[in-house]
Amino acid sequence: MPPAVLTNADLSTFLDTSDEWIISRTGMKERRIAHVTALELSTVAASRALACAGLQATDVDLIIYGSCSNEEAVPNSASGVQAALGATHAASIDLNTACTSFLYGLATATAMIRTGMARNAVVIGVELISRYMDWSNRNVAVLFGDGAAAVVLQASDVESGLIGSVLGCDTEARASLRVRGVGCGYAGRGITLGDTTWDFDGPVIFKRAVRAMADASTKVMQQHGVTADDVDLVVPHQANLRIIEAVAKQAGVPMAKVMLTVEQYGNMSAATVPVALVEALETGRVKPGSLLLMPGFGGGLTWCSMLVRWGSRVTPLGSSDRALPPLTTTALDLVNSIRASQDPHGRSATGLQSPVFAEQHR
Ligand code: UT7
Repeated sequence: MPPAVLTNADLSTFLDTSDEWIISRTGMKERRIAHVTALELSTVAASRALACAGLQATDVDLIIYGSCSNEEAVPNSASGVQAALGATHAASIDLNTACTSFLYGLATATAMIRTGMARNAVVIGVELISRYMDWSNRNVAVLFGDGAAAVVLQASDVESGLIGSVLGCDTEARASLRVRGVGCGYAGRGITLGDTTWDFDGPVIFKRAVRAMADASTKVMQQHGVTADDVDLVVPHQANLRIIEAVAKQAGVPMAKVMLTVEQYGNMSAATVPVALVEALETGRVKPGSLLLMPGFGGGLTWCSMLVRWGSRVTPLGSSDRALPPLTTTALDLVNSIRASQDPHGRSATGLQSPVFAEQHR
């Protein structure tokens, strides 16, 4: 996780919002703002995941970069992580289904392992939303944060890992969540990368997210002959505490069985589920053989729910000393630096050329 913490009070210094509103509507108190690139976050996460699995980078034959935060469209981001890791034998794929990108990456890597196309896969969930957030829009700016985490999947004769998945997409609400200003559709329209504004219909997304995640969770449990009582831990997408509570209620799982990170990290889009999974492991909430339920939704509106049977080991085989560079500024300074490159409508005149970030565009 990036170390710089942006509090609700920090947000109140430049937005008409309050700690009370944000906590009561979302359950969020803090989120992180990265002082490095998404590639650096991903490389640290992937290196640590490989060390936990006792693998070398050269053992990896598949890297999936699950995210909607890319440094560039070409070359893809997964290849940048591959280069930084020295994973010389890997295939590298970027996968963007917005907030569900990590979970869809898990399904994709599992399918590729099952069909023999890969044996050792790294799946990353990462997001650097602070760079294209419209910091003048309180409807969205208070909700999101940066982060990254990664897992290693390996071929195995034991039935563990991703044992069930239900995936879909509610395109009727496709227009309810859109980041304008990034993509080919904006070429020639006088908008440069970073000139982002957000279409965001919170209440519409809220209702459809609850229904889709609850229905997908019920379906995936039915498909695999398990009930809510059999589930040891729910590791859900963390967009709003109230959404999580509603999904847990409809799926019949008590909140005591739900892993929560929304209070300290907010919504990190594709990074939320893997970060929550790592924290669940590190706090002893995942036991050998645990049955995990992982519901998610995101722009599109893509949705899914996954069943994971954890393997027999919950302790890492090794550790990596790969770490992020030291933090030399505050989260609020980082955000103010981005804001300084945006006009009052969230438009950027110069892209991200401020001194704080200039070094990252090498
Ligand atoms: O990962 C996928 C991403 N999308 C989501 O997760 C979005 C899901 N939706 C939500 O989480 C919720 O809909 C929100 C948290 C976005 C909003 O909560 P809500 O209970 O649906 O809010 P509301 O629509 O009932 O209330 C909105 C009011 C408006 O004021 P009026 O029109 O009622 O006077 C907003 O202007 O709250 C106001 N508002 C704020 N006030 C203070 C909106 N944002 C803020 C804010 N601070 N940051």
